Formats: sequence, C-alpha cells, structure tokens
Amino acid sequence: MTTTLSVRRIALGFACLLGLGAAASPAAAQGELTVYCSVQEEWCRPMMQAFERSTGIKVSMTRKSSGETYAQIKAEAANPRGDIWWGGTGDPHLQAAEENLSEPYQSPALAQLLPWARKQAEQSGFKTVGIYAGALGYSYNTQQLQRRNLPAPACWADLAKPEYRDEVQVADPNSSGTAYTKVATLVQLMGEDKAFEFMRAMHRNVNQYTRSGAAPARAVATGESLIGITFLHDAVTQAIAGAPVKIVAPCEGTGYEIGSMSIIKGARNMANAKRFYDWALTPEAQALAIEANSYQVPSNSASKVPPQSPNLADIKLIDYNFAKFGSSAERTRLLARWDAEVRNAPRR
Ligand code: F6P
Repeated sequence: MTTTLSVRRIALGFACLLGLGAAASPAAAQGELTVYCSVQEEWCRPMMQAFERSTGIKVSMTRKSSGETYAQIKAEAANPRGDIWWGGTGDPHLQAAEENLSEPYQSPALAQLLPWARKQAEQSGFKTVGIYAGALGYSYNTQQLQRRNLPAPACWADLAKPEYRDEVQVADPNSSGTAYTKVATLVQLMGEDKAFEFMRAMHRNVNQYTRSGAAPARAVATGESLIGITFLHDAVTQAIAGAPVKIVAPCEGTGYEIGSMSIIKGARNMANAKRFYDWALTPEAQALAIEANSYQVPSNSASKVPPQSPNLADIKLIDYNFAKFGSSAERTRLLARWDAEVRNAPRR
C-alpha cells in the first residue's frame, strides 16, 4: 500500500542513481490503483496487501464509510481520483450507478456468484456487484444489562422504551450505509410515517450518532453503550474477541445489505481496476475476510461461509427493495427527512 510503496519509490530512486533504470521495480512496471474501501480498516488493509503481492500493482487505499465514499465520488466526478470502490452497503453503490458515477463491467467471475450478488449487478446495468451479504440488528452488553437490572431487548420496538434512555448507539445514515439500511428497513417494516415516529421516539435513547456503522458494536463491547445497532456480523466480531455481548435479530424481522463493489467512472487506472474487480470476486480473495475477523456471507458460490457468520436462513428477513431504496430520489429524500425530523428532534 501507500506506505510500502513509498519505500519502493525510494528504492527505485537509488536504482536510477545507480543506473539500473525503472525496470528494477516490478511494482512500477505494473502501475497503480486507488481504492476507496468501505469495510473495516482491519479487512481493507490485508486485502490491499494481498492484491499488491499477487500483482505487483501499487495500491493507494482510503477507508471511509459508505455514504461518505458515495459523496466523495460524486464530488470528484469531474476529475475522478479513485479507481475502484470496494465494500460498503449496496444502496449508495446503486445510487452511484444511477447517477452515472460508476462504470459498467461484466467480470468473467459473475457466473460464479450467488443469485443475490448477480441480481445486484443486473439491476444496476452491471455498474456494481454484490461481494457479501449481512443482516441488520443489534447487540447489547450482558454485564451492563445485569448491572443496571434492565430487561433484555428483543425487538425494534424495545429500543424506544424509556428504560433504555441514553443507552442506544447507532450511526448517522448520511455517512453510514449501516444506518441508512436501518432507516430503509424500518420504513419497509412499519410504513414510512410510523417508522419516522419510531425513530423520533428512539432518538431520546440515542447517546451518539457515530460516523461509522460498526462503531456502536465496539462501544457495546467496551460497555460504553448498552445497546448498539449494527450489522450482526460486526457484533459477532466483538463476541469472538471475547466481549460480553448478546446479538439480537429483532423479533419483527429485519433488513440486510448486499455489500458491493463498483468501478469509478473515468478511472485513471481502468485496466488495474478491472484486475482488482476480477480478483476480489475469487474465493481466494474472499477468504481473507475471515482472517480479518469479518463474518459477512461471501458472494462467490465456491467461497466458504465462515461458521461464525449469522445464518441468514435463521433470521426473519424482509424482502428488502434494493431498487427502490438504492434509487437516488428515495435515498436523497429519506436522508433529508431523517435530518429534518429525527436528528434535530427534541430529546425531552
Ligand atoms: O465492514 C463492516 C460493515 O458492516 C460492512 O458489512 C458494511 O458494508 C460496512 O461496514 C458499512 O459501513 P458504514 O455503515 O460505516 O458505511
């Protein structure tokens, strides 16, 4: 990645001084790639390092949440700086596709993908593709629950109850794809007006709207927050690390994400972006997730599903309408309504 490669650059400088020429660096010969990564840093890094190792392509990586990356790609549209956007929830990838911010590409690996991942590609005109899936829910800290003598929450509705005042943490849906998935899930489960009424009631219990979607799972693990709304796999990461957390798939049912990947329109390193895209869909690349303690369900049908991954078949999943909630008009409208009616709602 960038740090490794600056060392390579210095080495190349010396090689040139010694009259060895540019051919001394295989990485320089293979060129560069700029990746915007929207999974956890712990998974972004080994993924980029593995790609560099297997191709000699120099990767420069920036990690940002899904909504933030979408906004950055949009802001840079006239002069694109990134080549590929890897990871993050599918809705903003679909919005980018609709807004012509991403490039259509049909990887030869498409045929190996599970139906939900291929559908994501087909419905975007092949401008994005599914790389993993995961269900939304929440976790709570069992020690804190006991200490405060509180009942265990089991449903979405519980999170608005007065006994959980200041005890719930969730991300801001503008920056976080996880939190936007929460808004879209509640709208699909309850109907839009009821969902906003619920989110205003829950707002009284929210101690912080974080930037990143997985942050509340870490806050629950340390006991900083009693309850954290995240994808369930992010809570699994904490449970496996030994934190006293219980994971809840809400009783009413819940939504899910199709984590996605898109090539940025006008990418400066288009050939390398396609190389990364094909590689990222292989079972070998997808297997790096488990080494990074990431427990999403991978999209290649030959990839091994980590045994610790929440079993999506056991969870009451809604038929999430990705076409609607990933559309530019709907996502923009729902975020504006959330800003107006929830973020600034009274807390008393
Ligand atoms: O990497 C963990 C993860 O939950 C992914 O499954 C998901 O796509 C991404 O984070 C969403 O992050 P954010 O909510 O910060 O956009």
